[in-house]
Amino acid sequence: MCGIIGYVGGKQAAPVLLKGLQRLEYRGYDSSGIAVVDSDNIDVIKTTGKVATLCEKANGGKKLNGNIGIGHTRWATHGAPSDVNSHPHLSADGRFCIVHNGIIENFAELKSDIIAHGLPFKSDTDSEVIAQLIQYLYDGDMISTLRKVMERVTGSYAVGILSADAPDTLYAIRKDNPLVVGLGQNENFIASDFAAALEHTHNFVQLNDGEIARLTSRAVTFFDNNGNTVEKTPYLVDWDISLAEKDGYPHFMLKEIYEQPKAIKSTLSPRIKGDNIILDKIDFSANNVNRINRVNIVGCGSAYHAGIVGKHFIEKYCRIGVDCILASEYIYSNPITDNRTLTIVISQSGETADSLAALRLAKKCGSHTIAIVNVIQSAIAREADNVLYTYAGPEIAVATTKGYTTQVAALYLVGLKIAKVKHIISDARYSELLGELALLPDKISEILKDTDKIKQYAEGYAEHKCVFFIGRNTDYAASLEGALKLKEISYIHAEAYAAGELKHGTISLIEKGTVTLALVTQSDLYSKMLSNIKAVQSRGGDVLAISSYNNKQIGEEADGLLTIPDCDDDVTPILTAVVLQIFAYYIAAKRGCDIDKPRNLAKSVTVE
Ligand code: M6R
Repeated sequence: MCGIIGYVGGKQAAPVLLKGLQRLEYRGYDSSGIAVVDSDNIDVIKTTGKVATLCEKANGGKKLNGNIGIGHTRWATHGAPSDVNSHPHLSADGRFCIVHNGIIENFAELKSDIIAHGLPFKSDTDSEVIAQLIQYLYDGDMISTLRKVMERVTGSYAVGILSADAPDTLYAIRKDNPLVVGLGQNENFIASDFAAALEHTHNFVQLNDGEIARLTSRAVTFFDNNGNTVEKTPYLVDWDISLAEKDGYPHFMLKEIYEQPKAIKSTLSPRIKGDNIILDKIDFSANNVNRINRVNIVGCGSAYHAGIVGKHFIEKYCRIGVDCILASEYIYSNPITDNRTLTIVISQSGETADSLAALRLAKKCGSHTIAIVNVIQSAIAREADNVLYTYAGPEIAVATTKGYTTQVAALYLVGLKIAKVKHIISDARYSELLGELALLPDKISEILKDTDKIKQYAEGYAEHKCVFFIGRNTDYAASLEGALKLKEISYIHAEAYAAGELKHGTISLIEKGTVTLALVTQSDLYSKMLSNIKAVQSRGGDVLAISSYNNKQIGEEADGLLTIPDCDDDVTPILTAVVLQIFAYYIAAKRGCDIDKPRNLAKSVTVE
């Protein structure tokens, strides 16, 4: 999705903005631009294509003088990717300039109103309306003008604003779209995420919905929607900027795959104290836990898939009914949610619009909400009643890897905690599972030590048009994630099916040479899976099985075998996920795909 960076300080702004935009590239975009205030003029350079093209056009920033500016990477929603539709957008008189993330829902109505008052528009975007509206409503005071703007626009927005009349001041407003303010030494920043400003500062403040930020190089002031000043406490983001760099890996995705042993350890170890699971500040007293009669897990994409693994685990050990629901469906479904429902919202970015809307709906229905989130102080983290950070570190590749596996790990902790408080898991089994969780980082490292075989199979399948994934129960959940990973980065059509469903329709798609990945990690389901494998093979399909070292028979029956280290059946989804991530990665690499930034996709989906 779109990215914003804004700078005010003593340095030449344009190079800082260009560097910030490079840091935001991972979010997905199709065009970019920067604007800088030079004395009392606002100069804009923008272009379609990569930030590298913008850098060339701006001669590395040298073409623009001035110490204050805004930059943007655009992911087109309204109006095709084009130079004119790229941000920043100037008002008709050139005195105001904006960058915008989000969607202005009433832009058409506002636009015709403004055009009727004689202000011409240049672009097809919804965003330009904000620049024009500022000019139209300007009363000599930017704070009061921005308040009026916010009263008029509906939709979601994070906006960075320059005014030629205030050449040393940068403004920002937001509603339902992320925006942080970075506090530096005699320089300050606005950014749609930390990554853009992290090499300059680790101190950030969140701008809340309806608030306005006014930044000069020496001071930052916040206003609420009544125009009153608001005090805010900065927080420290201790992410190391090197974590947002490739560090010798050809792609962020591969680097992040390899970071999983550390990431899982960071999710688990602070919360496992001997035989005790301490889930941060969440009150898992018997009273609270025994009140829960239903768990809803909500998320999108991979977060939803993590939720399905969690559903199996929680139902098995806590004996509470769990629904795992796509956030985009949940919000329009009149969901069964009340004050005895525990709602777990999962989101790596913590900014996904559908998941945020689901969280708000669950709260409105009286549910207690827990967010499982990676990005610190993100909207979902802040709005949920409780938050469990996964501590995976920054995830840059659009395809989530460590984000997903750490979500699953966090769900295991929640499940075990509830089961223990409810006294429905034996002490022995509880300790056994805790032990299994603690071993996961080493087992992932074992997979990562030698990935040649996975790579070999992946490259062998790189020319296929379609790949199926099958499995039962948690293996089906893991199949869904494996298929998503493959399709999003390699553009191969990939589909996951519950293995038992094949015979109800899907098997008609199997013909000579069709590839099916069969996940066979659940010992009580081996024989059932074997029958499914046979059914695929007898229609000419090739089956690559994924199973544990000790499951020799599957290896003999399937056409190929990839193994995960021996482990408890309940925790296999994390290990199979790692194998499937590597599989998808090498297929996409062989096909020459843009692995970290797949076409049409964005890292953080902040619009519905
Ligand atoms: O940031 P979130 O976890 O809320 O994102 C949810 C999905 O958009 C995300 O998992 C998406 O499906 C990934 N591209 C999958 O790799």
